[in-house]
Amino acid sequence: MQFEQNKPLKHLNSLAFEHTAEHYVEAKSEDDLAEAREHAVNKNWPLFILGGGTNIVLTQNIKGLVVHPVGTSIDYQATSKDQSLVTANAGTNWHELVLDSLRHGYAGLENLSLIPGAAGAAPVQNIGAYGVELNQRLVTLRALHLPSGQWREFTNKECEFGYRTSLFKRLKGEYAISSISLQLSKSLPLNTQYAALKHALDEAQLNEVNAKMISDLVCQIRSQKLPDPNTLSNVGSFFQNPIVSDAQYQSLKDKHPGLVAYPQSDGQVKLAAGWLIDTLGFRGKRDGAVGVHDKQALVLVNFGGGTGEQLLALAETIRQRVKESFDVVLKIEPNVM
Ligand code: EPU
Repeated sequence: MQFEQNKPLKHLNSLAFEHTAEHYVEAKSEDDLAEAREHAVNKNWPLFILGGGTNIVLTQNIKGLVVHPVGTSIDYQATSKDQSLVTANAGTNWHELVLDSLRHGYAGLENLSLIPGAAGAAPVQNIGAYGVELNQRLVTLRALHLPSGQWREFTNKECEFGYRTSLFKRLKGEYAISSISLQLSKSLPLNTQYAALKHALDEAQLNEVNAKMISDLVCQIRSQKLPDPNTLSNVGSFFQNPIVSDAQYQSLKDKHPGLVAYPQSDGQVKLAAGWLIDTLGFRGKRDGAVGVHDKQALVLVNFGGGTGEQLLALAETIRQRVKESFDVVLKIEPNVM
């Protein structure tokens, strides 16, 4: 394995913040991951696993060893006539996995098309989009417990998934995920209920709809609203959509009839944070090198040369204004390091 020193991370985090890793190594396999861990333990270096870098806000150089999984194999194991257990190495690009499964004829990941990042990071924040979340597809995952060096297989239940969260997010880097296994099917019903997707489908006036068409439409919708991190640095949604009581929702709705909200199965209501931020006039606002995306107020961007501190300061201004105006507390979605 090739260990590097003072590795620039600018091209390894989608906000393009210019910090470094004190030590850096790429891991192609589980053996590499175990070896990297062993090396760090012997040197007494803290360990940090960096996936696609598309959901992290770097505010400083990373001390110790940064391990970047790069293994990209995808394996299909038929479990019935039309079902397959699809296992992807942690370093597999998420969107490549979506496209590969569709090419193999399996549906299930189409709504999650074009989400940036690596397959191994997908369970950490339980990625979700257009009415589907990863936890609806994930069966098991394998991970290395970094403090003990023990390998462990987690069932879906053991991952303790929630909205944009999991056991792995809560334990902050205690586990290095090496592969994920998803149940996909040739005959899974398509999920077309999310408003923006439904609208795009109506517009497209298709005679027949299949998973690949849904994937294409999701790519189209995302490209219109969400900036491509390769051209405008960002980490997708910067805040979670806040969940409030029905009573608070009713009182907000009386004052703000345009409020966008989604009732939850437990009686609470999820509010569209993008709408709250947009309504306060932040969409398209720029503060030096950082700003709020002009097509989606939930996305903060680095125009180039900005820092994590500047972005977090802007996020704090937004949080305070949302708290003052709506009495709603926004929670930052990406991991801050
Ligand atoms: N809205 C506005 N102004 C804005 C942004 C949004 O009024 O500037 C309104 C929209 O008109 C819409 C509603 O808010 O009625 C919701 O917007 P959108 O459909 O764009 O979705 P979102 O709630 O902002 C969530 C996820 C996204 C995911 C989309 C689609 C979170 C934190 N974000 O965004 O995920 O792609 O739904 O399912 O749950 C991510 O996590 O990084 C991410 C991009």
